[in-house]
Amino acid sequence: MSDTLRAKWDARYAYSGDSVPPPAEVLSRYAAALPDPRQIGGRLRARALDLACGRAGNGEWLARRGFDVSAWDISRVVIDSLRARSDTGIAHLAVRDVIKHPPEADSFEVIVVTRFLERRLCAAIAQALTPGGALFYQTFTHGLDNPDYLLREGELPALFPMLKVEHYSTQQPNADGRAEAMLVARAASDA
Ligand SMILES: C[S@@+](CC[C@H](N)C(=O)[O-])C[C@H]1O[C@@H](n2cnc3c(N)ncnc32)[C@H](O)[C@@H]1O
Repeated sequence: MSDTLRAKWDARYAYSGDSVPPPAEVLSRYAAALPDPRQIGGRLRARALDLACGRAGNGEWLARRGFDVSAWDISRVVIDSLRARSDTGIAHLAVRDVIKHPPEADSFEVIVVTRFLERRLCAAIAQALTPGGALFYQTFTHGLDNPDYLLREGELPALFPMLKVEHYSTQQPNADGRAEAMLVARAASDA
């Protein structure tokens, strides 16, 4: 299954050009919920993960703000195209099937997931946040052919019961019939 999936995304990226997408609205709109990248415990820089990054517009945006960014995707074509550019600022690029190899527990201060939905991964994503870490999630509620990839009403916050919701919003479908939900949610701090 994951070989078929990888081939599908490799083919799509082989023909889609190199342009860097802007950051997702969940990041630009709720940027105030990001931690200061320079003030995280004893670390030099806070770690941010762009999971299923595609062209990594989110990762680049976070790197420009000073985060130590990891960007992972199942598609070797897209990761190679990011590696070929010297200006992404992304410190750690990896071809990684996140279903087989989810992020390790307690490993990122920020995780961003956009336009990717794998419900069985949600618990691992929440556990991968460090205490006080923030999740930024944005994906479709309407407008895709495969209903498995669409969020149901109120589903996005319910997928992360162990996190505290800070922002949750949904859109009305646009002219193309597409709409997305956005969530910012935070792990409990140690204190
Ligand atoms: C619709 S694109 C979204 C890309 C990017 N996050 C964005 O918002 O532009 C979905 C991405 O998920 C990646 N993907 C699909 N299954 C994956 C998996 N199991 N592990 C890692 N990446 C995966 C695809 O290669 C593709 O880049």
